[in-house]
Amino acid sequence: MTEVTRPPAACLIGWPAAHSRSPLIHHYWLRMLGIEGGYNIEAVPPEGFAEFVLHLSTHGFVGANVTIPHKERALALTRPDERARAVGAANTLWYENGELRSTNTDIEGFVHNLDACAPGWDSVEEALVLGAGGASRAVVFGLIERGVRRVHVANRTIDRARALADQFGAQVHPVSWDEIADLLPRAKLLVNTTSLGMHGQGALELDIGRLPPQAVVADLVYVPLQTPLLAAARAHGLQTADGLGMLLHQAVRGFELWFGRRPQVTPELRALVEADLTNV
Ligand code: ATR
Repeated sequence: MTEVTRPPAACLIGWPAAHSRSPLIHHYWLRMLGIEGGYNIEAVPPEGFAEFVLHLSTHGFVGANVTIPHKERALALTRPDERARAVGAANTLWYENGELRSTNTDIEGFVHNLDACAPGWDSVEEALVLGAGGASRAVVFGLIERGVRRVHVANRTIDRARALADQFGAQVHPVSWDEIADLLPRAKLLVNTTSLGMHGQGALELDIGRLPPQAVVADLVYVPLQTPLLAAARAHGLQTADGLGMLLHQAVRGFELWFGRRPQVTPELRALVEADLTNV
């Protein structure tokens, strides 16, 4: 009998099986690069997660993305890199010399999207980040890594912003939600990492007109694609970076780790995923 070698495949592990754009993104790149490979969605309940991850290759996978509710468990079950440890959650798993490793690609997704949308953004001295959850930790890590000297983190629950300052050091300045208006004139980069502005969530009430004229505005929310924050920023002629761009850029590293080629975020890929978003 001849042994059948299957093409390499990765998967997205979540629970319940959520509608995800990741298969669309990775199938596009596999097609564009002419690589025979696969990317599946695997619905794995919390009680089955450890078994699934610890035997990922036996289940037929060279690596995986991990989403809600498994991202923290994934960190504990693998050998995380500095990025996954800093964010406190892993979203990408791969094998390195037989060992299961993990990283968090939200950091590079965020900075590479800014590089693409607002080249030179990293010359800013001060940034204002709204929110202090997991997404905020990825953003703050990226900003500090790229040399932003002062990162103001405003959060409704100020203790969570203080925890970020404890973790990342003196460059992070925790501020209360009421201080946002006073900080806007100094913020050359404003980033929303909260769920405000997302479909079905509350609005983010900000006077964009108070930002400096050369400010860059980034929003991690991508449903809707154009959030009220991004619409207001564009109306004021400011440069913007949206959440879909970050989603596409964060997928690059996983593909490279699993399939051995670094893919491009092209306008065609963006259009494909945009069409899928508007179809929901
Ligand atoms: P994620 O991992 O996506 O960052 P999270 O850890 O749940 O998710 O964080 C959500 C962020 O949105 C938090 O900063 C949260 O503020 P709190 O820490 O005070 O909860 C913020 N957020 C959610 N709803 C909000 C609201 N109505 N007003 C202000 N901030 C809100």
